[in-house]
Amino acid sequence: MKLLMFIFACVFVVEGYLPEHSMEKQNSFENFVCPPVSALRPCQCTTVPDIPTIHCENIRSLKTIKRALRSWFRNDPIPYLRIVEARLEGLPSRAFVTLNVTRLHIKDSNLRWIATDAFSGLESLLMLTLHNVTLLTFPPESLSQLSSLISLRLPENELLQLAHRDLRGAGKLKYLSLAGNKLTHVERGSFPIILVTLSLSNNWLRTLNKSIRNLVNLEWLFLNNNRLLNLEGELDGLRNLRKLNLAKNSLRHIGRSFRDLINLQELYLQFNSIHQLGTSLHNLSQVRNLNLSMNRLVILNYSDFEGLESLETLDLSGNRINALNGAFHSLINLRRLDLTHNRLRNLFFTEISHLTNLSILDVSDNRLHRLKSGIPTATLPIERIFLARNNLTTLGRFIRHFTVLEVVDISFNQIRILKAIDFSVSSRIDYISVTGNPLICDAEQMFVHHTLENRNIEIDGLPKCNIQPPRL
Ligand SMILES: *[C@@H]1O[C@H](CO)[C@@H](O)[C@H](O)[C@H]1NC(C)=O
Ligand SMILES: *[C@@H]1O[C@H](CO)[C@@H](O)[C@H](O)[C@H]1NC(C)=O
Ligand SMILES: *[C@@H]1O[C@H](CO)[C@@H](O)[C@H](O)[C@H]1NC(C)=O
Ligand SMILES: *[C@@H]1O[C@H](CO)[C@@H](O)[C@H](O)[C@H]1NC(C)=O
Ligand SMILES: *[C@@H]1O[C@H](CO)[C@@H](O)[C@H](O)[C@H]1NC(C)=O
Ligand SMILES: *[C@@H]1O[C@H](CO)[C@@H](O)[C@H](O)[C@H]1NC(C)=O
Ligand SMILES: *[C@@H]1O[C@H](CO)[C@@H](O)[C@H](O)[C@H]1NC(C)=O
Ligand SMILES: *[C@@H]1O[C@H](CO)[C@@H](O)[C@H](O)[C@H]1NC(C)=O
Repeated sequence: MKLLMFIFACVFVVEGYLPEHSMEKQNSFENFVCPPVSALRPCQCTTVPDIPTIHCENIRSLKTIKRALRSWFRNDPIPYLRIVEARLEGLPSRAFVTLNVTRLHIKDSNLRWIATDAFSGLESLLMLTLHNVTLLTFPPESLSQLSSLISLRLPENELLQLAHRDLRGAGKLKYLSLAGNKLTHVERGSFPIILVTLSLSNNWLRTLNKSIRNLVNLEWLFLNNNRLLNLEGELDGLRNLRKLNLAKNSLRHIGRSFRDLINLQELYLQFNSIHQLGTSLHNLSQVRNLNLSMNRLVILNYSDFEGLESLETLDLSGNRINALNGAFHSLINLRRLDLTHNRLRNLFFTEISHLTNLSILDVSDNRLHRLKSGIPTATLPIERIFLARNNLTTLGRFIRHFTVLEVVDISFNQIRILKAIDFSVSSRIDYISVTGNPLICDAEQMFVHHTLENRNIEIDGLPKCNIQPPRL
């Protein structure tokens, strides 16, 4: 499922970019009128949601489509032609020659081959998508006929490699997706320097082979779900990169490979084998989201996150972290910190006391047996705190630092006694879970339970006590 989400994310992303940019040329579809249904059969025409689209499903031959469209459109441009589940063998020479198409999308069809001049005549084509059409190769010559092409997407095909001449003809290409192929080799110089987004996710790449460095215009780069081992020097010069997805590779070290990514805003590194950060993140002063979930971090160092002053979300879940060493001290904009599924035994307030914007703290599924508070007057704007499935016997004064707390989850710990004051420092609390704790039922505790219940707080897991609460 996760995998599919990534694929969709990439598809969406690369497409999402396009309409905006192509509107410059096609600034209005207002004059477009759909032909009558009968004139287009077997295709259909819609003008919603934004780009008028001719949709052809389940056809056997392109001739059928061409015949249907030619008589109506003549040389008028067709904004978007979508061909789905067609039973074509391939795309023959001059396959679309009588049509003037701006965007062409062929999906879930069988296209084994494409003639070198299949796209002849499509000088106005801006976007070409051949998605899940069992392509084994893409003839590079055909690109030189597509002199306006800015977006090329060939996701979920059977492409094995990319040679430096393959995209030579695509002089205006800005958006490229080769996601979901079987790429093992990419040659240096394969990608046009003007690329803005590039997706190579879900391939079989072990190395980027210095093919991406110095793509100075690149803003979004998707490399998730490959077999990348090492990035040394591979990302040099990517000074405009905003979004980088490296999830699900085999990275162990980052070293200095992020040093030029000074404009990066989102970085996804989940499901790798990173065990040490060192200075690798220090130049990422613009990063807002960082996902390091499911790596092999054990000890954080004081300076690991230095320089990340824009960071808002940090996900460190699913590592083996047992020591924090003040690593969060510079994250003044952090709003959400996820430390679930690690091996923390203690949590000291001083570890988070610099996080003056922290709103969500999740330390569930660790081995916490001790929470240590800081100086009594120190407060943080935490709204939700999750400490579930640890080994806490007491909360100490820890959660009294959080004066705007709304949600507290301390389920499945070893807590026997609740203290009303822990939950009265914040007047906003509306949910507490104490499920799975060995809470006792003496008269004093009954009183606490009733005090909480009377505050209109939803409480999960209070024990059913038989004794009557003391009367006031
Ligand atoms: C296709 O339509 C565009 C307008 O979008 C026009 O500029 C171009 O000349 C047309 N091409 C042909 C071959 O008629
Ligand atoms: C790819 O297209 C084929 C039909 O050619 C279809 O059966 C299959 O489900 C499609 N695969 C995906 C992942 O959509
Ligand atoms: C790296 O690129 C070179 C050409 O620049 C090519 O010969 C080689 O096969 C590529 N290797 C990989 C693993 O992509
Ligand atoms: C940060 O960028 C500077 C200037 O490009 C470079 O000299 C330095 O090595 C980089 N630091 C790290 C940790 O990558
Ligand atoms: C980080 O990645 C993991 C694994 O893909 C995911 O479950 C989690 O939601 C991500 N974290 C954030 C903050 O998006
Ligand atoms: C940083 O942490 C690693 C383990 O993750 C440790 O081996 C290394 O000595 C630490 N470095 C410093 C400077 O504390
Ligand atoms: C916290 O967030 C607010 C906006 O939500 C921002 O103005 C402020 O600069 C942030 N940083 C600190 C240190 O408060
Ligand atoms: C949690 O505490 C219980 C009882 O105090 C103890 O038996 C158990 O070993 C502890 N578990 C861990 C993971 O520390």
